Amino acid sequence: MIGIENVTKRYKHVTAVNDVNLTIRQREIFGIIGYSGAGKSTLLRCLNLLERPTEGKILIDGKDLTALSDRDVRKERQKIGMIFQHFHLISSKTVFDNIAFSLKAAGKTKEEIKKRVPELLEMVGLSDRGDHYPAQLSGGQKQRVGIARALANEPKVLLCDEATSALDPTTTKSILQLLKTINETLGITIILITHEMEVVRDICHRVAVMENGKVVELADVYDIFANPKTALSKQFVQTVHSLALPERLLAARKGTIVQIIFQGDSAEEAVISETLRQFDVSANILHGQISYIQDRPLGTLIIEMTGNHAEVQQAIDYITKRTNLLEVLAGVA
Ligand SMILES: Nc1ncnc2c1ncn2[C@@H]1O[C@H](COP(=O)(O)OP(=O)(O)O)[C@@H](O)[C@H]1O
Ligand SMILES: [Mg+2]
Repeated sequence: MIGIENVTKRYKHVTAVNDVNLTIRQREIFGIIGYSGAGKSTLLRCLNLLERPTEGKILIDGKDLTALSDRDVRKERQKIGMIFQHFHLISSKTVFDNIAFSLKAAGKTKEEIKKRVPELLEMVGLSDRGDHYPAQLSGGQKQRVGIARALANEPKVLLCDEATSALDPTTTKSILQLLKTINETLGITIILITHEMEVVRDICHRVAVMENGKVVELADVYDIFANPKTALSKQFVQTVHSLALPERLLAARKGTIVQIIFQGDSAEEAVISETLRQFDVSANILHGQISYIQDRPLGTLIIEMTGNHAEVQQAIDYITKRTNLLEVLAGVA
């Protein structure tokens, strides 16, 4: 378990991280999302004390890192792997030697290194690339080397700073899949920062949304997609999960257009037929989709309701009460 307690990091003129409190559970994939400058990287670097927090504590399995000497911090840091957007490989060393480097730094013998590096290469799918140099690899392969190096000393935690932001969408998917496998098979806790909501949707269990150095929302990933609470979270959700209704439909509307979010199983869809039975309104389905987030369905339905104004309002109230997630997109003109 990782505890971030009242962590603030101030530079001369900026407060990069402002009184953040978070608890990250063992074995979870925890996302931190925010726009550039939100303080994500600084917070991540505070976690392994690459940056010393100005105030606050970092607790790893109950041990307060901020209370340790620099020498003890370096030891603890070996239990925390880190990967970066631009990989940070040593260009003059082969893939094998890049990985061996962090084993050497941890005091491993030549024999141990010779045995461990091939295991790591296999884990990341690069068994045949040990003697290649970074310049001979694709971006995705470079990040795989970065991951192998980060896992070399069997860390309990892996920190990922925009690890897929320099990669194309297909390569991003394969790297995220690798991180998911690592999380599931090795039980490593992963903390991942990103500005892309797809990344959060695809592998995170929980997410914290950051703005101006603060965490403005913390939620299970499914819940943030189903019901984002802050304007900022809504913006991020909409980048991957928005049903843009053609202007022409909005312009030609005769009734009230509402968006309804259905969570979980489709049983809730009965809400629509019950609404139509109980109220004297008709409903025209304009748009619908079901996405799967963490293997749970999340449905979005956009309908146009027509009828007497009071009946439509009652129908809206009824659906709102039943689903809690109804938004009026356009009223009667
Ligand atoms: N070493 C530093 N010195 C001064 N200001 C910094 C330093 N590192 C980060 N900052 C500032 O702190 C804020 C947060 O930066 P950062 O943590 O890199 O954000 P993010 O990773 O979310 O883009 C920014 O305003 C940035 O300019
Ligand atoms: Mg950053």
